[in-house]
Amino acid sequence: MNERVFFAGMAGQMGALDAYRSADLEARVCRYLPELMAGLEAVYPEAPAIAARVAEVIGRSLAERPQDLQALDLKRIHTPDWFQEPQMHGYIAYTDRFAGTLKGVGQHIGYLKELGIRYLHLMPLLLPREGENDGGYAVADYRQVRPDLGTMDDLEALCAQLRREGISLCLDLVLNHVAREHPWALAARQGDPKYRGYFYIYPDRTLPDAFERTLPEVFPDFAPGNFTWDDEVQGWVWTTFNSWQWDVNWSNPEVFLEYLELILWLANKGVEVFRLDAIAFTWKRLGTNCQNQPEVHALTQALRAALRIGAPAVAFKAEAIVAPENLIAYLGTGTHYGKVSELAYHNTLMVQIWSSLASRDTRLFTQALQRFPQKPPSTAWATYLRCHDDIGWAISDIDAAAVGLSGPAHRHFLSEFYRGDFPGSFARGMHFQANPTTSDRRTSGSTASLAGLETALESGHPRQISLAMERILLAHAVFIGYGEGIPLIYMGDELGLLNDYGYVHEPAHKDDNRWLHRPKMDWAKAEKRHQQGTVEHRIFHGIKELLEARARIPQMHAAFPTQALWQPNPHLLLLKREHPQGRLVQVYNFSEQDQPFPFEALRQEGIVQPFDLITQTPAPAYLEPYARLWLAQHPV
Ligand code: GLC
Repeated sequence: MNERVFFAGMAGQMGALDAYRSADLEARVCRYLPELMAGLEAVYPEAPAIAARVAEVIGRSLAERPQDLQALDLKRIHTPDWFQEPQMHGYIAYTDRFAGTLKGVGQHIGYLKELGIRYLHLMPLLLPREGENDGGYAVADYRQVRPDLGTMDDLEALCAQLRREGISLCLDLVLNHVAREHPWALAARQGDPKYRGYFYIYPDRTLPDAFERTLPEVFPDFAPGNFTWDDEVQGWVWTTFNSWQWDVNWSNPEVFLEYLELILWLANKGVEVFRLDAIAFTWKRLGTNCQNQPEVHALTQALRAALRIGAPAVAFKAEAIVAPENLIAYLGTGTHYGKVSELAYHNTLMVQIWSSLASRDTRLFTQALQRFPQKPPSTAWATYLRCHDDIGWAISDIDAAAVGLSGPAHRHFLSEFYRGDFPGSFARGMHFQANPTTSDRRTSGSTASLAGLETALESGHPRQISLAMERILLAHAVFIGYGEGIPLIYMGDELGLLNDYGYVHEPAHKDDNRWLHRPKMDWAKAEKRHQQGTVEHRIFHGIKELLEARARIPQMHAAFPTQALWQPNPHLLLLKREHPQGRLVQVYNFSEQDQPFPFEALRQEGIVQPFDLITQTPAPAYLEPYARLWLAQHPV
């Protein structure tokens, strides 16, 4: 497949093109066709024939791409680092829990802007199956919005409204599975061979058993095993997650073409970032854990190359909660370098923040970051403290051993600590999916409750309350200041919302305690952010101050790397960012005691008169409990 033929295939769907448009699209094809072909060829023997169909899909989509989105495409072509800018701050929310409906979200844009948000991830909002649906991750129709939230027109209108305000909408693209009620699965259930081919269906246990030998279980509590017998299809269906979430078969090129068309269609509604849900699981290989297979990256490369031609304003965010050595491939390694997702979640950073808060010791943190692979400069991490999922205690045994800890013992400690069981623990949380075979116990709980605000408020002790708030702000400072990507604030954390124990009263939620940390927005509490002396005021303004500081510091641009520094005090974390406009060294005190200021460590980095860029004042003589400082030699 050469550029001319591909372009002709595209243009054939588009009607007359003026010279400028033609040149623009030809340039895109020349730039990205090799990446598209390499991706397709790595996976599909019939790559040229598929490419011809890809050209038509892109052409049809371009013909319908609204003018203002085409203008955005052009803007983004000229600002390829748009998602790396220091002003890029994200917010994650459930539409209904945040604002009732999509229209409601539009009415709360002011609140998001007050905080400095430029990126909004609305949790799954496409039509899910009825009843249990894994928080919307079991999609029954990708082209319809959940009716209680609004319509596709509302989504399109909200995207436009957000775009006018400089906020990019991120939407989940669930591409590992569909609901058992999705039309593809319905057709397969009715015996249509075409659609049976969209799934992994086995007549007996031979292959499922062979796969199970090396497959882990994602939800051992409520969905043990990875296959579900289905009477209608008379076979074992691959269901990595829940029995009603059917894994789709990406080795079938029809599946690739379906998703491509869908992504472009949603991009034409104004979606700017797609969160590629559970992407690690999308390729299966016997004898492996069926995660992180090379084909996953080839397919992402092909999808992205097609998007760069058809909707270049759009970026991908990989949701791969996997070990660092596997994770880095989602931002591109080897031949995929710079050609796959622009964004991926930095799970290690999140886990290490919680680990150091519990242990008051940062040696493991420093060790883990030092061993963490460097990302390509054109990409960015999504950094975060909490999200809608549980926390899996992904502490590497190698890192633990390097600082004299036992990996299993430390993981055990963390899960005990964050349930509140460990003596002296400040946390309130719950175990999620305890797995006796692997001794794995994950944790559910909101930021504020895990960080001790719930117990402190109950105690009524002012010092405990103050420490809990400072702890929350320290944790935010670390992932906001980390600098290699977009910090994502999880709805309610900016106000210190506590665990929501009411989830047990909802039949579709009661068995999944991740709902503990998916509270409804409390707008009355939000109002208290204006009232000095309240918890809400302290936390909201503390976070806002961090975001404002970040936005004005050029060193926060995500292209530049962060390095963790060794220094003698085990309570302190020091992070360095090199930048042409000067070096930045961040200092974090993970203990509730004062600590000496690390003058020597800073001197070694050439910072002799440290100036704190958060408060815009000279650095203090000592570090207060949970202090956080972003230090430079000069004000910026
Ligand atoms: C992702 C989501 C999680 C969901 C799973 C299956 O990991 O974050 O909530 O259960 O995918 O879709």
